[in-house]
Amino acid sequence: MENTMLNINLCQIIELPKISESRGNLTFVEGNNHIPFDIKRVYYLYDVPGGAERGGHGHKALHQLIIAMSGSFDVLLDDGEHQKRYHLNRSYNGLYVCPMIWRELDNFSSGSVCMVLASNTYDEDDYYRDYKEYLVARGVIL
Ligand code: TYD
Repeated sequence: MENTMLNINLCQIIELPKISESRGNLTFVEGNNHIPFDIKRVYYLYDVPGGAERGGHGHKALHQLIIAMSGSFDVLLDDGEHQKRYHLNRSYNGLYVCPMIWRELDNFSSGSVCMVLASNTYDEDDYYRDYKEYLVARGVIL
C-alpha cells in the first residue's frame, strides 16, 4: 500500500467480542478475523512509572493492536500531517495502528498493562526512531 494511504484515518478503535457472564467477562482476538493481520508476536508494558513515556517511534511494515488490559493510558498517533490522541481504558477495545504511523504512549495509570499484538517478530530494522527520518520517509519533508 502507498505511504499516503497509510494515514491515521486507517487507524481505529476495534471493538472486540465480549462474552459477559455473571462469572465475569471474556474477550478474544483472532488474527485476520477481528483484526486485519496475522498475530506473530505479543508483548506488554507493565510497571510503567507515573509520567513515563513509551513509544516515540514509527514502524515501516508492522501492524499492531494496542489494548489496555488493565488501567488506562493515552496513545498519540501522528502520520506527519495529522495527529489523533486516544485514551484507552477498556480491555475489549483495541487500537489498530497500521504501518508508517508515529506513536507515543503516555499518561499511564498506576498498575496499567498495555498489551500489543503485532504482525511480525521483533526487528529493529523495521523502526523509525528518529522523527525527522520518519517525516522524510513519509515524504513530508525533504
Ligand atoms: P521499544 O519498542 O522501543 O519500546 P517502547 O516503544 O514501548 O518504548 O523497545 C524497548 C526495548 O525492548 C528495545 O531495546 C527493543 C526491545 N524489544 C525487544 O527486544 N523485543 C520486542 O518485541 C520489543 C517490542 C522491544
